Amino acid sequence: ARKRKESMLAAHDLVAKLYHHLLLNTDHGSRARNYLLNRQMQLATIEEFGLGYSLESWDFITHFLEKRGFSLSLMEEAGLLSRKDKNSRPFDRFRGRVMFPIHDSQGRVVAFGARTLGDEQPKYLNSPETPLFNKSQLLFNLHRARAHIRRQQEAILFEGYVDVISAWQAGVHNGIASLGTSLTEQQARLIRRNAESVILCYDSDQAGIEAAFKGADLLVAAGCTVKVAQMPKGMDPDDYIRQHGGEKFKQEILLNAFSLPSYRLQVIRSRYALNDETERMKFIHEALEEISRLPSAVERDHYLRQLADEFHLSLDAIKQEQRKIFKQQK
Ligand code: GTP
Ligand code: MN
Ligand code: MN
Ligand code: MN
Ligand code: MN
Repeated sequence: ARKRKESMLAAHDLVAKLYHHLLLNTDHGSRARNYLLNRQMQLATIEEFGLGYSLESWDFITHFLEKRGFSLSLMEEAGLLSRKDKNSRPFDRFRGRVMFPIHDSQGRVVAFGARTLGDEQPKYLNSPETPLFNKSQLLFNLHRARAHIRRQQEAILFEGYVDVISAWQAGVHNGIASLGTSLTEQQARLIRRNAESVILCYDSDQAGIEAAFKGADLLVAAGCTVKVAQMPKGMDPDDYIRQHGGEKFKQEILLNAFSLPSYRLQVIRSRYALNDETERMKFIHEALEEISRLPSAVERDHYLRQLADEFHLSLDAIKQEQRKIFKQQK
């Protein structure tokens, strides 16, 4: 089993270097190079992340591995090759895509994420689960970001690799991402081992908001302090950085990250038309339900005061109402 894993690792290392070479030094790679340039990705960033390009070919990688003596069925198990059925010949899994190497915590390439250059589906094709690659236990970029995360005692959790890379290029070096699935308990514990505090920086769409709520719960359960950064509607961190630059991303988005209760209240708020009196009352009621769920009396007091101030209500009235809700929840 050890030998098999070593062979899989060696193949990933070689293939990653080959994809990288194809991207930077060949005519075949020019469309992908232009694609990345159009996304404002700099050469130094492409080098740092070892980005690559897989040729539009069914057997280029297959031949490459075969010539070097790798077992093709092992390479299929490693996720570099695919095949139609058990007895047919393996072919290249990744074709005509920008390749994002995925490293384990020791910095070894164990998988790839692969993006189309156009709008074919699926947009991203990732390596399958393999003996090297356990999606639920790995975080993209952790090996690179770890020292920064520890020093700052803060990690930034993004949705996509491109967000991590874009943030890195803008000087934000403590970014990581889960791998195309929602955050898992193991990933939350892994984050907690490296940092006390986490800023969730997901896309500003319905999926992103829901993922932020779920991720936040897992991170809190793992013992992290969670903040949530909010992107303008319809943007993801990479869009934002490209449009406004890294400095503004740090100043406006990261520094203004909400505490988790504030974020929840703010999402609830966005569902009501607050200039309507009935809606306002409904919002206050739902906000009180949310505040009542906070475990700390000090925190409850803080948000109750905020609510009272904002809607010009007496703190007594607000507290009375909140106690009623608190009792109903028990
Ligand atoms: P760009 O369009 O390249 O900017 O992608 P993005 O980084 O904005 O990705 P998006 O927000 O669409 O998705 C976030 C993450 O979900 C990606 O990094 C992938 O890991 C994953 N993902 C997105 N689309 C797909 C898909 O079609 N298949 C799979 N398996 N994963 C996907
Ligand atoms: Mn740094
Ligand atoms: Mn998204
Ligand atoms: Mn996105
Ligand atoms: Mn994006």
